[in-house]
Amino acid sequence: MFRRIYLDNSATTPVAPEVLEVMMPFLTEDFGNASSIHYYGQRTRAAVDRARHQVAGLVNSRPNEIVFTSGGTEANNLAVRGLIEQLLRARPDERPHIITSAIEHPAVANVCEDLEKDGVEVTYLPVYEDGLVRIEDVAAAIRENTALITVMFANNEIGTLQPAAEIGKLVRELRKDGRKIWFHTDAVQAAGKMAVDVEELGCDLLSLSAHKIYAPKGIGALYIRRGTRLHAQNIGGRQERGIRGGTEPVAHIAAFGKAAEMAKAEFQDFGERTGKLRDMFEDRVLENIPGASINGRRDARLPNISNISFTGIEGEGLLINLDMQGIAVSTGSACSSGSLEPSPVIRALGKGDELARGAIRFSFGKYNTAEDVEAALDALPRSVDALRKLAVGSR
Ligand SMILES: Cc1ncc(COP(=O)(O)O)c(C=O)c1O
Repeated sequence: MFRRIYLDNSATTPVAPEVLEVMMPFLTEDFGNASSIHYYGQRTRAAVDRARHQVAGLVNSRPNEIVFTSGGTEANNLAVRGLIEQLLRARPDERPHIITSAIEHPAVANVCEDLEKDGVEVTYLPVYEDGLVRIEDVAAAIRENTALITVMFANNEIGTLQPAAEIGKLVRELRKDGRKIWFHTDAVQAAGKMAVDVEELGCDLLSLSAHKIYAPKGIGALYIRRGTRLHAQNIGGRQERGIRGGTEPVAHIAAFGKAAEMAKAEFQDFGERTGKLRDMFEDRVLENIPGASINGRRDARLPNISNISFTGIEGEGLLINLDMQGIAVSTGSACSSGSLEPSPVIRALGKGDELARGAIRFSFGKYNTAEDVEAALDALPRSVDALRKLAVGSR
């Protein structure tokens, strides 16, 4: 029987049954507006408050430091643009400087590029072949006018863990010296898959998204350390303390809360389970497929992402071939797929265009089993072989 196997959990995850159960009442009988004073409003307000505690619990923040957004993209926009706009309004004659990395998600990278058009200075730090930013490079990039460092916690394409805690420490030291500098980290891929603690990280702003942890798409949050001022990007009513106007999507918020609570309870087990699957997968691929190489340092990665380059083939072709065999994977990030340009992230590793074009991301999730991995290991050498023969034939 033809069986479909989903190995694209970093793009999105299915909604967990427990999460669906929690959100359903808010799509039916508990439909009130959380700002309403009557019974209906009180029911939904209580649900939003509960979820805020649950999401805060996932990252060890205070509940009132969590602002719900429509997802990770909006959280990143609110963090980066919100902070810079606040500064520009307070001190219009200054030109703030941002330090970021060359491998950020487009929701940070494109916001930085957009801000450059408004005269903001941006430094894009390189990563090395291991897919990591160096703390020395961060320190060396700091200027008199540096206002924001935004470096992601875990990369979405190769899973590498950036030195976020070290950056946080550096920023806290500078702040002690009276410098006005803030640290934002995009933890969309990391949160719920490993320990993410805003106190240990020393960050001021941290982005989250629910659909990577078995809740629906269209809901996320920004952690905003107490005292950090942002200019609202979604201006409307006083919801979310005026930082993010708009009637709260209560069903989605409740779902996110439940997913956050579950992820907190499960992440250690998740790490062990997916880590085992990933290591078995990578070891067997390296053993059985010549010309395969792993992208990103093996010991500084999320447990569930495996990004592999294959010489002599196009990643898109491999993706389609695997899909025909029922195996769903991705090239680059979902947001940049559809373009045949090699992934900027793999390119940034400096391994050359051939390996950048031949890169595929396998991302494991909590519902994957060893049989799923076996099926992928069975299909993959066949697909790679067929595509390589085709490439030779067409020369
Ligand atoms: C690292 C990272 N940041 C941000 C986002 C965007 O989140 P959302 O899809 O909730 O807008 C994603 C999703 O792919 C991501 O992987």
